[in-house]
Amino acid sequence: MQRVRRVAIATVAAVIVSMGAYAVTDGSGDPSAVKSDDGKWMDKNDVPTFKVEPDGTVDWYSYVGFTRYSSECLRCHGPDGMGSTYAPALMESMKRLSYTDFYAVVAGGKQDVSASQGLVMPANGENKNVMCFIDAMYVYLRARADDAIGRGRPQKHAPKPEAFTKAEDECMG
Ligand code: HEC
Repeated sequence: MQRVRRVAIATVAAVIVSMGAYAVTDGSGDPSAVKSDDGKWMDKNDVPTFKVEPDGTVDWYSYVGFTRYSSECLRCHGPDGMGSTYAPALMESMKRLSYTDFYAVVAGGKQDVSASQGLVMPANGENKNVMCFIDAMYVYLRARADDAIGRGRPQKHAPKPEAFTKAEDECMG
């Protein structure tokens, strides 16, 4: 009995330690930015992530993500990823969805839980205005889910990286 209890306590302690300072509320795991490829930040698993400086300056991709989200997704999903009566709050969804889940729904669409009400998430696989900026929208919503970026347009952002301009030109054609 004693022994079982000790093991249980040790397990709980190990879990807390492995979580570190970060409480897991992110479908892709720890969002900490560990490396940047010309202003595009990645976490330790090479998944795109946000980077917010102590003075509130957000990385360029999060900023673009906000503007693209507002033009392509807001009309259904509400301002700042907060949801509407029509479509779910993506800042909540991101606590559960991984990068791959997100990508699959945005590209392929979804008609599932709300099918009875005829609510549809459109497929965007052919829509360059969405697909060319999918990583930016992902990092913005990830930041919203992790409470790293508040409501509204981020006031300060990092300068536009050259790599972004190049990728945008190539993708938009
Ligand atoms: C025409 C309205 C509409 C637009 C525009 C739209 N969505 Fe959706 N979206 C929906 C609806 C409705 C659902 C719920 C579908 C279901 O679960 O059946 C949904 C679901 C999703 C989900 C899954 C959420 C979850 O909790 O599983 C993601 C991710 C998503 N949308 C991302 C986006 C992004 C990113 C954009 C902008 C590029 C976007 N959507 C634009 C209507 C829309």
